[in-house]
Formats: sequence, C-alpha cells, structure tokens
Amino acid sequence: MNSITVRNLGFSYPGNVEVFGNLNMSIGSGEKAGISGANGSGKSTLFLLLMGLLKPESGTIMLRDTLLKTEHDFRTARVKTGFLFQDPDDQLFCPTVEEDIAFGLLNRGMERTEAGKKVDALCDRLRISHLKKRVPFHLSWGQKRLVSLAGVLVLDPELLLLDEPTAGVDDQVTGILLDFLDSFSGTMLVSSHDMEFLDRVCHSRYSLSNNRLAPLPFSHSRA
Ligand SMILES: Nc1ncnc2c1ncn2[C@@H]1O[C@H](COP(=O)(O)OP(=O)(O)OP(=O)(O)O)[C@@H](O)[C@H]1O
Ligand SMILES: [Mg+2]
Repeated sequence: MNSITVRNLGFSYPGNVEVFGNLNMSIGSGEKAGISGANGSGKSTLFLLLMGLLKPESGTIMLRDTLLKTEHDFRTARVKTGFLFQDPDDQLFCPTVEEDIAFGLLNRGMERTEAGKKVDALCDRLRISHLKKRVPFHLSWGQKRLVSLAGVLVLDPELLLLDEPTAGVDDQVTGILLDFLDSFSGTMLVSSHDMEFLDRVCHSRYSLSNNRLAPLPFSHSRA
C-alpha cells in the first residue's frame, strides 16, 4: 500500500511560474523518504500541494490510497497528517507556547486536563518544558522549530510531512529531532539540504530537479 501517490501533477504560480508540469511519485506506507533539491526546485510547493493548501492544475494526489479532490477530502486527510511548515512563523500563532502546542488537541475536542498532560509529556521529551509559558513570537529560531514540531507531533499523525526541519537549528536540536524521527513508526516525507540528516533518518532519498523526482543513492555508510 502507498501512503503518498502523485500522478501527472501540474502546478504553476500566478504569472506563469511553472513549478511542476508532470510530476510523479509513490511513497510506500511506513516509508521514511527524504527529498533534496536546489533552492526553488519546488520542495515546499510539493508539500503545500500534498496538504491541499495549493490547488493543482492537473493530475491526482492520493494519501493512504484515498483520492483527494475536494476541500472536504483534503480536510479529512489533514486530520491524520502532520505538516511542519518550512518557516515556523507560519505555524505559531497562540499567545503562549503551551497553548500553541495544545491548540490542535483542544480543537479536536480533547478535554483541557488531558491535553495539558499530553503537552507536558511531549515538551519533556523534546526538552522544551522551560519554554511553555513563553510567547512563541519571541523565541529563537531553533526554539520555534521545536515548538512548531511539538504542535504537529502532539496529534499523533500517521503521516508526517516535514519541510526542512533542520534548517537553522544547532546540533543539539538536530539530535533531538533525529531521536524523535528515528522512533516515529508512521510514514514520513522530509525535505532537507542536509544529506547527513537524510541519510540518518530516511529509508529512501529522492532528488527534485527539472520537475522530476529521481531516486538518490545514500551518500554515507549507514549504521
Ligand atoms: N507564492 C509564490 N508566487 C510565485 N512564485 C512562487 C511562490 N512561491 C514559490 N514560488 C516559486 O516557485 C518555485 C518553487 O519554490 P519552492 O519554495 O517550492 O522551492 P523550494 O525547493 O522549497 O526552495 P527552498 O530550498 O529555497 O526552500 C520557485 O521558482 C519560487 O520562486
Ligand atoms: Mg522550501
């Protein structure tokens, strides 16, 4: 079974900026796949299309073998999909870190005490408990990255889409990310310019260029 299947995808931004003419991809269920590609090759655009936040001009997108066409289809698929935006400022909007992380749980009807317990456990695991009362807007880039990741992971997604999770973060934060993603048992698609990170965390790697996703061999020996 595939978790992500894209067929003949075409998309252009207004002003005739064509990003994809005929993109195809298949990511198997349980696969952890990495995408690398030059700046502007279309990685973020691909994630936004998979989430239904941009509309394709042509082609089809299936998540977990369900064809997604309408806004309702994408909204249903998003319940089981965790998406980390490339820019954490696109993700964080609540007055405090703990409210931001709890937002999705409360929005899904979880009782406040139960949501608080889940948030506390995750903050502990990601080593951001000391940030819970802080204003997200005032955090450093790496701190924002971990808080936005917490808001995604707290919902226990089956499919994780991570757009450059290690960009601008230090070795310690990268280590925390690696530990977490190693133990994640669902399907994951992650973009990065950090080949070592992709080698470490992924089963398969692809390179996006000239509108095509090509399989990419691993660059380092894997433990
Ligand atoms: N809102 C937009 N309007 C017009 N063109 C856009 C818009 N967003 C992105 N583009 C263009 O679409 C192409 C793909 O951009 P995208 O951000 O998907 O690339 P990327 O691979 O994620 O790059 P990076 O590695 O810098 O994050 C680029 O040519 C970019 O200039
Ligand atoms: Mg990008």
